Parts: sequence; C-alpha cells; structure tokens
Amino acid sequence: MTIQAKYKLKGSLNISGDKSISHRSVIMGAMSIGETKIYNLLESKDILSTVSILRKLGVKIKKKKDSWTVNGVGTGGFKQPNQVLDAGNSGTTSRLMFGAVATNPILCSFTGDRSLSGRPMLRVTEFLKNIGAKTTLTKGNYLPLSIEGNLNSLPIKHIITKPSAQIKSSIMLAALNISGQTTIVENQSTRDHTEILFKYLKINFKSEKYRNGKTKLKIMGPAEIKAKDIYVASDPSSAAFFTVGALIIPGSNIEIKNVCLNKTRVAYINILKKMGGKIQIKKTGKMSGEIVGNIKVRYSKLKSIVIPKKLAPYLIDEYPILAIAASQAKGTTIMKGLAELRFKESDRLRSIHENLLNSGIDTNIMKDDLIINGSTNEINGGNKINSFHDHRIAMSFSILNLICKKPLKINNLKCIDISYPKFNQDLKSILLNA
Ligand code: S3P
Repeated sequence: MTIQAKYKLKGSLNISGDKSISHRSVIMGAMSIGETKIYNLLESKDILSTVSILRKLGVKIKKKKDSWTVNGVGTGGFKQPNQVLDAGNSGTTSRLMFGAVATNPILCSFTGDRSLSGRPMLRVTEFLKNIGAKTTLTKGNYLPLSIEGNLNSLPIKHIITKPSAQIKSSIMLAALNISGQTTIVENQSTRDHTEILFKYLKINFKSEKYRNGKTKLKIMGPAEIKAKDIYVASDPSSAAFFTVGALIIPGSNIEIKNVCLNKTRVAYINILKKMGGKIQIKKTGKMSGEIVGNIKVRYSKLKSIVIPKKLAPYLIDEYPILAIAASQAKGTTIMKGLAELRFKESDRLRSIHENLLNSGIDTNIMKDDLIINGSTNEINGGNKINSFHDHRIAMSFSILNLICKKPLKINNLKCIDISYPKFNQDLKSILLNA
C-alpha cells in the first residue's frame, strides 16, 4: 500500500554549516595567531556554547554580516577565566575544550545542562591526566569538572579504545601546546575533521590509516598556527533528515547543495542506497580541505538492511533518522552494536525504541542491537512523541510526522536549536501540498 501523504518535498536548498567543523573552526581560530574569518559557521546553541567559553578565556570573537571573526591567542594563550565555563548541552564543546585548556597554566571549572551532566567525561579526562593536567570530576565521571592545566605537559603515546572523535580531538588540541611528539592510536578510526583542519592550517603532524581500521597520529608540538580563513561546508547529518524525508514521502524530489561529503560522515547515504534509495551524489569541490557536493534524492520504495557494528562510528548521529527510514522499509532492519548511542544527548537507543513503539511500529532492542520491523502501511499518528530534549530525536520524528494521518504530538521541539535552528524554515521551503 502506498502512503497518501498530504505533502511532498520538492526543490533545492542550502542548509546550515556543519556542527563538528564549526566547533573546530572557532577553537582552531582561537588557538591561531592573527585573525580568522569563518564563513557559513553554524549559529546553533551548541556552537554558541563554544563561542561563549572561548570568550571567557579571553578570545575576542565577533559576528559580522557574512562571517565571524576570531582573534587568536595562540595555543598557550588562554587567560584565567573568572567565571564557570558552561558547555550547555554540548558534548563536543566540553570534551574538545577540556583538551584545549589542559596545557595552559589556568584553573577552569566546566558545567553543563542536565543532559550533559549525565554524560561520561572520564573517557576524555583520563588521557589529559596522563599528560599532567589535574582533573576532578563529580562522582569520578561527570560534570562539573575542575581542571588545572599544565604548561609542561608530557609528549606521550595514547591508545584510544572507545570509538570517539571527541576523545581523539581533545588529545589532538592538547598536543598543540606540548613540546615533543604526541602519538595517538585509535583502535577504530572516527570522523577526521580535526585532522583535515590541522592539514589545512599547515600544522606539523602525520596521520596513518591502517587496513584493520586503526589510525595513528603523530603531532609535533608546540605548534604556531598562522590564522587562515575557514569556509564551513554544510552539515551532512542535517541533510540526512531531508534525504530520508524525500525517500519516504511519495512524489518527492529534492537537491541539497554544498554538503560536506567527508567519507566518515556520509556512510548513511550508502546505507540508504543499499536500502533501495534513489540518491545521486555530485562532488563539486573542496571547502577548507573538506570535500563538498550536491545530494539529489527521489522518493523510493525501501527495503530492510542489516547494519554491522563496525559502521557505528560513521553513522552515530544518523541512527535516529535511519530508524525512521527503516520503519518505512519492507522487512526487518537490524542495526548492530549501538552501545555508544546510550551516551548521547539522550539515551538514543531508548528514545528511538519508545517513540517508534508509540507510533505503532514494531521495534525491539536486543542487547545493543535495534530491530525494526518496517511497514509500508499508513501510520495513524496522533500519538505523543517524547523528544527527551534531544534535537536529533525531535527532527527525526518531525520527518515521520509528514507521513502520519494525524499529526504527532512532539514535545519540546525547541531543542532543535541545539544543532539546526533553521530546520523548520528549511523544511517549509521544500514542503509542497501533495
Ligand atoms: C562529534 C563526535 C561524535 C558525534 C557528535 C559530534 C564531534 O561524538 O556524535 O555529535 O564533533 O567530534 P563521539 O565522538 O562521542 O562519538
């Protein structure tokens, strides 16, 4: 049975800048010497948390008409803050900034909102402790954190066993102000925006990727970074919402332009293609070291898929919207090895499971696997959706809402501002009556 949706998605759109690249752009601008102009910076709550913390550390950051300017203080120039550093809801802000301050001789106190205060931080501070920073976490693992940086931090070898770009990036930022060679081994490689920005800024480091999935980085510090303007490519994780929207709503046909096509971020496109999605990618060039291009998507009849655990680091932010795609695919989709999803803005394994069940979609969790029995029947809707104050859950179910007979009642849609304040505006720009 084909869904009789009230709407279809049509047209082309440019979406906001990438969240991961935006955080790194302002932080790297702050650690450079001179003025960095950043174009297409994502102006979301998470990025504003990073900006606000950097300002408290003495960095001058200004919003101009078409760009942001950051007056860098160098890798060791953060000043002693006289206020608590509030990372809000942002895991990336907190974890990357711990690393950035760990080699400066200052004492910082970090806090966050309720969700961030429940997320594990020892996974990062254990490495910073090894180089010489003094850290005290609440109950040994959570914010608030007090961290006293060490100007004479040690150039050592770190082995990261959890797949997390935030852990890697935190150590990489710390290494910029350490004399000697810091070596980082990732047992499973993760998104590489920090490496790409390091290369773009001509920082002295080496990166080796191995067939078994490991990555080895060697950073020769201390670094003196010369400021260079940065152009932020559009966010592939934000593009994923409209990509899935166009795939599941009959009659849809859209193009999303200038999206970051970094391999570690667009695994979801390959998954959706394997599910039968009609998606075309056209590379158009590079933006500050990142490959960019356009994504064309047409409505498609989807089939189920088994997603192996080894892909989890490359799909980590897209599981919620992939679950929506799976709910509309013929057959049983199994997403394997989603343990890390429990430590996101909400316990996303639970958030996805509960909300799909409430929407009448047969879904199970077995250990760390999510099992979704897709159905091509119409969805009644009208039920409540708990966003759990999690932006990606709110946006994913806003897409499912488009094919429901009665509107879903999604609570706290405001949390979308965390990563994509223009989500509704962009959605409306391509939303036509069927
Ligand atoms: C991010 C890394 C990922 C991702 C997050 C952004 C980053 O987190 O989920 O949204 O910018 O480094 P983990 O590193 O914890 O997997």
